[in-house]
Amino acid sequence: MLKTNVTLTITAIVATLIGFGFMTIIVSKSQRYFERQQRLLGEINGHIEEVYTGHSVIKAYNAQEKTNKDFKELNNKLRDTGWKAQFISGLMMPLMTFVGNFGYVAVCVVGAMLAFNNKISFGVIVAFMMYIRFFTQPLGQLAQAATSLQSTSAASKRVFEFLEEEEMVDESNNTVSIDNVKGNVSFENVKFGYNEDKLIIKDFSVDIKAGQKVAIVGPTGAGKTTLVNLLMKFYDVNSGKIKIDDVAIQDLSREKVHDLFCMVLQDTWLFEGTIRDNITYNKEDVSESVIVSACKAVGIDHFIRTLPHGYDTVLDDNTNLSAGQKQLITIARAMVKDASLLILDEATSSVDTRTEILIQEAMDKLSTGKTSFVIAHRLSTIKNADVILVMKDGDIIESGNHDELLKLNGFYAELYNSQFEKAS
Ligand SMILES: Nc1ncnc2c1ncn2[C@@H]1O[C@H](COP(=O)(O)OP(=O)(O)OP(=O)(O)O)[C@@H](O)[C@H]1O
Ligand SMILES: [Mg+2]
Repeated sequence: MLKTNVTLTITAIVATLIGFGFMTIIVSKSQRYFERQQRLLGEINGHIEEVYTGHSVIKAYNAQEKTNKDFKELNNKLRDTGWKAQFISGLMMPLMTFVGNFGYVAVCVVGAMLAFNNKISFGVIVAFMMYIRFFTQPLGQLAQAATSLQSTSAASKRVFEFLEEEEMVDESNNTVSIDNVKGNVSFENVKFGYNEDKLIIKDFSVDIKAGQKVAIVGPTGAGKTTLVNLLMKFYDVNSGKIKIDDVAIQDLSREKVHDLFCMVLQDTWLFEGTIRDNITYNKEDVSESVIVSACKAVGIDHFIRTLPHGYDTVLDDNTNLSAGQKQLITIARAMVKDASLLILDEATSSVDTRTEILIQEAMDKLSTGKTSFVIAHRLSTIKNADVILVMKDGDIIESGNHDELLKLNGFYAELYNSQFEKAS
């Protein structure tokens, strides 16, 4: 084009630049809407999931209308934003066609003037009319691609936000390992808070000998689960040390720490799969007799056998187990794992008292020679613990065995008596 005629080339380029300018303005204006559209789409999906999982509560509170209203509000916002995003990006194509034609007209007008002045021949105008078509065609395609690129970039922005979250502390240098774990556990001046500004565990020190059964009791929110989280290295302490057999867990890798423990968490977690798979979770070559004896010990063997497929019953949305039955399965899972340290966080809270006592006996048998941490609100189940740590607001306020603590007549005695009174 430059070789044929410079003036016409400049005309063509300027006309196209104007087109580009338009496109950039529209893209930058509509990007906002694309981002908002993705965010709202996330919100509405979250809302649907929440309503779907909690629909019995919603029914129980007659909150259908409110839920409907919330959904409509979100949906309207999404529709408005989506409409705007689509409208603006829909403008792109006709605009690009317009810009193409605009270049066409500009070349014709400028070319005609040049031809009048005998600066160029008529053929040059015809040639440029072709060139400008070739020139603007890919631009039109770009504009078309821009629309899908825009929603992709808005969506990937959300994904990258997630991926850019801070990584966990690198542990490739933690090559220390503990062989033949004995099970001495000590906390030395441990301080910890989930947020910088609020300490939950203020200054926690305790020495636990191998094989002891340690009970942690205390009011709701005292920091019992937090303590377990620290011991399992789900979180790192702010200061102080937690040691297992004189090795600080800070020097062990997370996997090694997790291998030392079997734990039953406060909230049960079963996955979709057979009962057998749930019990032998991530452990290979578990013999049938081990599974059955674990289930017998927690007293769920009989129930499992009454299911149509026994141990091969698939747990999914259709096979509903009671909360207690789920807990029993998770306890059986911990029994099968058979690690050297044992953590039970409210593991029997949904089980009837008689079964709880049975489990307690089975657990005591299982945990002989193991250090075990038991968190329980029903104090009758931890009476026989070697050490009872009474926690309040992140500190141990009393410690000792059941009789000592009762004699002390402090917070534990008060807790214990209040339960006893209620029961009688
Ligand atoms: N992930 C978290 N982020 C921030 N704060 C948390 C987190 N988990 C717990 N907390 C706070 O830490 C405090 C102690 O919680 P923790 O779960 O340890 O209590 P708990 O003693 O186990 O109580 P419960 O008997 O109800 O199980 C609570 O005040 C709670 O609000
Ligand atoms: Mg808890």
